[in-house]
Amino acid sequence: MTLSPQFLDEIRARTSLSAVIGRSVKLTKAGREYKACCPFHNEKTPSFYVNDDKGFYHCFGCQAHGDAIRFLTDARGLPFMDAVKELAEAAGMEVPAPDPRAQAKAERANSLYDVMAAAQAWFEEQLGGIEGADARAYLERRGIKDATRKRFGFGFAPDSRGKLKAALKQFGNDKLVEAGLLIQPEGEREPYDRFRGRLTFPIRDRRGRVIAFSARILGAGEPKYLNSPETPLFDKGRTLFNIDRAAAASRDTGRILVVEGQMDVIALDQAGIAEAVAPLGTALTETQLGLLWRLAPTPTLCFDGDAAGQKAAVRGALRALPQIGPGRSLSFITLPAGQDPDDLVRSGGREAMDALLAAPEPLVDRLWHHERNAEPLATPEDKAGLRRRLLDHLATIADPDVREQYRHDLLDRFSELTRPPQREWKPREWKKSGPQGSRFAQQRPTSAQARAVGSAGLGGHTVQAVLQGLLRFPAAIADHAEAVAELPLREKPLASLRDAMLDAALMHGALDQDQLYTILVDRGAASLVEGLRRQTGLGFSFNRRDADPERALRDLVLVIDTLAARPGLDAALDAATARLKEMGDEAAFEEQQRLRAARDEADRQLATLIESDADI
Ligand code: UTP
Ligand code: MN
Repeated sequence: MTLSPQFLDEIRARTSLSAVIGRSVKLTKAGREYKACCPFHNEKTPSFYVNDDKGFYHCFGCQAHGDAIRFLTDARGLPFMDAVKELAEAAGMEVPAPDPRAQAKAERANSLYDVMAAAQAWFEEQLGGIEGADARAYLERRGIKDATRKRFGFGFAPDSRGKLKAALKQFGNDKLVEAGLLIQPEGEREPYDRFRGRLTFPIRDRRGRVIAFSARILGAGEPKYLNSPETPLFDKGRTLFNIDRAAAASRDTGRILVVEGQMDVIALDQAGIAEAVAPLGTALTETQLGLLWRLAPTPTLCFDGDAAGQKAAVRGALRALPQIGPGRSLSFITLPAGQDPDDLVRSGGREAMDALLAAPEPLVDRLWHHERNAEPLATPEDKAGLRRRLLDHLATIADPDVREQYRHDLLDRFSELTRPPQREWKPREWKKSGPQGSRFAQQRPTSAQARAVGSAGLGGHTVQAVLQGLLRFPAAIADHAEAVAELPLREKPLASLRDAMLDAALMHGALDQDQLYTILVDRGAASLVEGLRRQTGLGFSFNRRDADPERALRDLVLVIDTLAARPGLDAALDAATARLKEMGDEAAFEEQQRLRAARDEADRQLATLIESDADI
């Protein structure tokens, strides 16, 4: 039975989500929302929020997200229709009577599932039998372990035109043809087995039911992979290989990977990365993207570094643009040319994959790099061409806010790239103390400014001071990467600069000022970096050219650590204050006082590090 979107919206509108969730989860009021320890993963402090106005829940820990229907299917394991029925009943609504044609289709599908399950059992049995010897040897050669073989349901289709047909004859030839297991030739001729002499493995739907098969040839030959045709159960463009297992795994890891081949999914799983899916030999469809976004806000597409892989990556990026939004994007990793994830984990283990996954490329970067490198940029016409291509891509983004951000971001990069250099920068200048030192001294902040640093948050001066410090002491970036990554930078360009600095430091290890500068300019951050470099009047020791380098570095690290800890401290303090209001007991009071003192102490620390006017 299919239900209209209007009907489902009506159910959602009439349902109080907190009441539904509150039946099985203890909710606490938090402002206009409710919070709780997440029912989808193990946690001690609540990161699961329920918003009745918007009608959805969200867990900041595991990214579980959905509406009332989704809650009942995911938390209580109800089939979709049962969840709808339960909510409709509670809301006093009548579920529309089933359409007899849809009903018939559903029944037919039901028995096709039985056919597929029977075929799966039979293929597995063949793999274990005498005829399966070559296929077993093939699996062994590929390093597929027994446990993996069972997990993914590998089987074998014997090299015969009639064995499967005979084994499953209880279903009748028509059903077997409809299931895609037999091929019906033109005319009156007899149907025969589709999969012959191949290693098989099932393609399952989100509920783990077998809906199709993929079959690989054992040696060389064409086609390498033969998949089931489209059937009432199997719609290639709406299916992702391994979606059932990957969905469960992605709840724990908060991410989902998309790779090109089914064998890549299987190899990654064997290496301990279970949250990977693959389309079935085609480009990602909009439906598939939608499925991915239900699992994680930023699925990571993993592509071969060769030309074909890169083309596919761009195709994925462009396909996604119309649908991206806040908390809804893509990221990319590029494998060494000519390698797929299977090759990579075989040679380098899961660490090789983890290393790439540590710093995926955001969608906006991928788009930019692709267009920037697509054509030469020698003439004004070339430059205008690049600008036009960027604008054309932007125009496809439906979400107005995200489109606006992309416009800023990409056009900034564009003007950065096409503007003639304003002034030659001499990195040496950093190391000299010169006449600028005294000008700098006149612009130092007052003590009042110094005291404001902690409480004013991380706008303006403090952030710029820290980033300038990191440009001067690049070694601190890698050494204190975690704290640097946690710096609560409000302004997006500064946050991106910080990310670029982290990337550079983590990728290249120990960097000196000049190397870092070159990398950042290459990443399109020239004007920001130059601006920061020229900025004077930032009052920490690490902003002064004549400061003792040892002391400057020590102060820099202290400031970074303090700033990085600040949001956590603030959040804990807010939580303690809320608890105090609610409970009003002594323990809550003490906790709140302790946190407040810690915060004040941190602020004081920061302020003392700013050299007061008297020091000059
Ligand atoms: P590849 O040729 O890169 O294969 O095709 P692979 O995944 O590395 O497979 P192995 O490691 O040689 O076994 C990538 C994907 O394209 C689809 C399959 O989904 C495959 O995983 N494909 C490829 C087909 O559907 N049919 C084919 O004949 C070949
Ligand atoms: Mn491969």
